[in-house]
Amino acid sequence: MRDQIEARLQTLLDNCQEPSLKEAMSYSVSAGGKRLRPLLLLGACEAVSGQFSQNAVDFACALEMIHTYSLIHDDLPAMDNDDMRRGKPTSHKQFGEAMAILAGDALLNRAFETMIHACVDDPKLINAMRVIAVASGDSGMIAGQVIDMHFQHKKADGDALFNIHSLKTGALFAAAFEAGALIGEGDDSYVQSMKDVGVKIGRAFQILDDLLDVTATQETLGKPTGSDSRNEKNTYVSIHGLEAAKSDYNKISIEALATLDQLPQKTLTLRTIVQQVIDRTY
Ligand code: IPE
Ligand code: IPE
Ligand code: MG
Ligand code: MG
Ligand code: MG
Repeated sequence: MRDQIEARLQTLLDNCQEPSLKEAMSYSVSAGGKRLRPLLLLGACEAVSGQFSQNAVDFACALEMIHTYSLIHDDLPAMDNDDMRRGKPTSHKQFGEAMAILAGDALLNRAFETMIHACVDDPKLINAMRVIAVASGDSGMIAGQVIDMHFQHKKADGDALFNIHSLKTGALFAAAFEAGALIGEGDDSYVQSMKDVGVKIGRAFQILDDLLDVTATQETLGKPTGSDSRNEKNTYVSIHGLEAAKSDYNKISIEALATLDQLPQKTLTLRTIVQQVIDRTY
C-alpha cells in the first residue's frame, strides 16, 4: 500500500513541466512524511470492499498532496515561521517564500487535477472528491488554520480549541475515512460510521501533535519543538495541561478503536494503520 502511494506520487509529480517548480513540489512531497492520511483512505476503502483500485490510489495521493501543501504554507513566516519539516529545511528556507507559496498552490491544483482524472474514468467517485474538497477548504482545514491564527497571542477556551482541532486537522482525517469508504462503495450508514472514526482519530492526532511539541525532540519529530509556545498558540497542553492531554488522548483513541471495531471489515489493514497512528512517537 505504502509502496503504491510512493510510486504514484513520484509519477504524478514527474508530469510537472516547469523544472524549478517541480523541484520544490517534489522536495516537500518526498521529504519523508508518514503518509497517514493516504494510508487511512486506502485502508478504509479496503475495509469496505476488500480491495482498492488505481483510482483509489490516485485519491490517496491527492489527499497527501493537499496535506503537504498545507504544511508548506503552515511553516511560512506569515504563519508558524518554522525552519524544519520532515527532517529537512522548510520549503521557504530552501527555495524562498515565493516559491514555497507557489509550490503549495501547485500541489493543491495537482491534487484536484488527479481526482478529476479519476472521476472522468469512474463518475461514481465524484462524491469522494466533494468530500475532500469540502474538508480541505473554507469550511474545513483552511477555516481551522484561520481560527488558529485568530487566537494566536489570545487565550482560547476548550470549545474554541475543540473547533480549531476539528477543522485544521480533524477534517482531513475524517475525509480520509469518509472518502475511502465512499470509493469502496459502502452504504450511507457505513460511510457515516467511518467518518465518525476519522473525526475521533483526527482530534486525537492533534492532541498528540500538541503533546509532542512539548515532550519530543526535533531530531525525532523532524520539525522544531517548542514552536507552539514560541508562537503563543493555544494547544491542548496549554489549555488543559500535560496530564489531561495524555489521558484524553488515550480516552479518545480507545473510543475511536471501539467505534471501528463495531463495523464489519473485510480486511484488518485499516485497524492496523489506526493502531500505528495511535502508537506513533513522531
Ligand atoms: C502534521 O501532520 C500536521 C498536523 C496536522 C499536526 P503529520 O504528523 O501527519 O505530518 P507528516 O505528513 O508525517 O509530515
Ligand atoms: C497544522 O497544525 C495543521 C495544518 C493544517 C497544517 P500545526 O501547526 O500544529 O502542525 P505542525 O506541528 O506545524 O506540523
Ligand atoms: Mg500551525
Ligand atoms: Mg505548524
Ligand atoms: Mg503542531
